[in-house]
Amino acid sequence: MTPPSPTRFLTGITTSGTPHLGNYVGSVRHSVRFSRRADVQSFYFLADYHALIKVDDPLRIQRSTLEIAATWLACGLDPERVTFYRQSDIPEIPELTWFLTCVTGKGILNRAHAYKASVDKNVAKGEDPDADVSAGLFMYPVLMGADILMFNAHKVPVGRDQVQHIEMARDMAQRFNHLYGEHFTLPEAEIDDAVATLPGLDGRKMSKSYDNTIPLFTPRAQLQKLIGAIVTDSRAPGQPKDTEGSALFQIYQAFADADETAALRQAYADGIAWGDAKQLVFERIDREVGPMRAHYDALINDPAQIERILLAGAEKARALSQPFIARLRHAVGLRRLEAPAAATHRKAAKVARPSFKQYRESDGQFYFKLLDAHGDLLLQSLAFASPQDAGRAIGRLQQEGGAALSALAEQFEPADNDKMRAAAEALEALAATSGG
Ligand code: TRP
Repeated sequence: MTPPSPTRFLTGITTSGTPHLGNYVGSVRHSVRFSRRADVQSFYFLADYHALIKVDDPLRIQRSTLEIAATWLACGLDPERVTFYRQSDIPEIPELTWFLTCVTGKGILNRAHAYKASVDKNVAKGEDPDADVSAGLFMYPVLMGADILMFNAHKVPVGRDQVQHIEMARDMAQRFNHLYGEHFTLPEAEIDDAVATLPGLDGRKMSKSYDNTIPLFTPRAQLQKLIGAIVTDSRAPGQPKDTEGSALFQIYQAFADADETAALRQAYADGIAWGDAKQLVFERIDREVGPMRAHYDALINDPAQIERILLAGAEKARALSQPFIARLRHAVGLRRLEAPAAATHRKAAKVARPSFKQYRESDGQFYFKLLDAHGDLLLQSLAFASPQDAGRAIGRLQQEGGAALSALAEQFEPADNDKMRAAAEALEALAATSGG
């Protein structure tokens, strides 16, 4: 399948914690900028099904979902431009998870890093290998595969620790395609080595699991206090300081431009007092974060608004996922019993088939409809400038079926989900019974 332009990027964020400076520098800031590019189509989602694997505190899941959504919006993610949704609002994802579960070898999952790490830890402690390992943790890569394949993402920006998951998603796509036809795009990991990992308060990588984070939108006074708590050595004011290995310096560098960084390097050499350096770092970070913090606070205090944004995003996402799952259901054999079966019953199928009708309106423009076997309207196109343009769209629908339905969504009059599903089924039936 040739990937339609633009390139589709997809990223999920597990809703298990509060966003910190490390998340901002390592992912949010870059992704928001990236999402404004004209040549990419981005999907951002809150991976709350994934969060259930790690967190059994319902309030924390809810709070984290709110905080992460507010963070992305406050940092400038434009929900009109991208598809921004909550994983659990897309019921097609767990359905696809099951389809993929059935084409994934158990042995492959045995080798997943996160699962293996838990097993190794248990074995080292002399415990049962699977002690405290939930089936959810074991299945994590399949759910992630469904996230990615559901929207036929080409690229998945991830850290190195997630590359194996993308490779597994590729394997699932390949295996499914091999069994059932070309339905899935093979995704690729997009690793950005330029985005540095940020050190935390104690100098180790800033991470929830080390409890050394600085929350991105902590109040100003608290931000100042936390930056004051970053480890330094015991060198006195006036003594030259090392930038090498200085967590404070690295954090500054992640926010400052080249000139500012050079100036702090010089100040270190000149023996700046740690207290003064910390004040400088605090002010630089607050300059960038402060204006977004106000936006964040407003959003956090209006959860209903965020809820509306997420539901609108889910609607956009489901306009793709619903017809696509209909196509996949058909492909694996979960079909309406009266639907024509591919290959075996071609003749019977010819009796009543869905059809395209192409025509010209009095406005001089060209249109087409997709009708079901009874002549009822399934899809109504918008205007095309030429009959060739309309014909090309029909051709894609005939060849690619339900997938083209989502790709061409903007060329149809809006239809409700039942109609879209019926249209996808009709296209599958057409594809299945056309000479091929
Ligand atoms: N596993 C990712 C993480 O822990 C989150 C995630 C879930 C994800 N589904 C995804 C990332 C799909 C990219 C694509 O960070």
